[in-house]
Amino acid sequence: MLTKKIEKALNDQIKVEAESSQFYLAMASWAETEGLNGTADFLYLHSDEERAHMLKLVRFVNERGGKALIPELKQPPRTFKSIQEVFQNLLNHETNVTAQINNVVDICLSEKDYTTHNFMQWYVSEQIEEEGLARMIMDKLSLIGNDKGGMYLFDRDLNTLRTKAAK
Ligand code: FEO
Repeated sequence: MLTKKIEKALNDQIKVEAESSQFYLAMASWAETEGLNGTADFLYLHSDEERAHMLKLVRFVNERGGKALIPELKQPPRTFKSIQEVFQNLLNHETNVTAQINNVVDICLSEKDYTTHNFMQWYVSEQIEEEGLARMIMDKLSLIGNDKGGMYLFDRDLNTLRTKAAK
């Protein structure tokens, strides 16, 4: 059984993951309209993954005797200045998500809820991977600078970076 405090923390996290999914969906759609099809595919997939993170929490809360709340979501940006801005936003967003996950883990410890603590470890590992991937992408983008040929290859090969980061 979840304590009220843990239930609230997990419901807050459901919202964070749902907003991540929505944010990346907005980025994906923008990239697609800019002709950055590789980037769009990468971001659509990333958006789906965030939805899966949300769903995993929804199922856990309900299985543990709580009530998962499906939240209202804020409007994500409709446009971005550049691909650099997209991925800087993504990195900043993931850094915030890591802080939120750490906060949930802290609450688990203070409430002595070791089951939820154990469940949250999956998210802790996932954040290491996601932040690492976002930093790697930012490094590549700064190497490319304004080189159009480099950008073409970046867009084409972006999905292979994800596979490499997962290894
Ligand atoms: Fe589910 Fe990217 O944090």
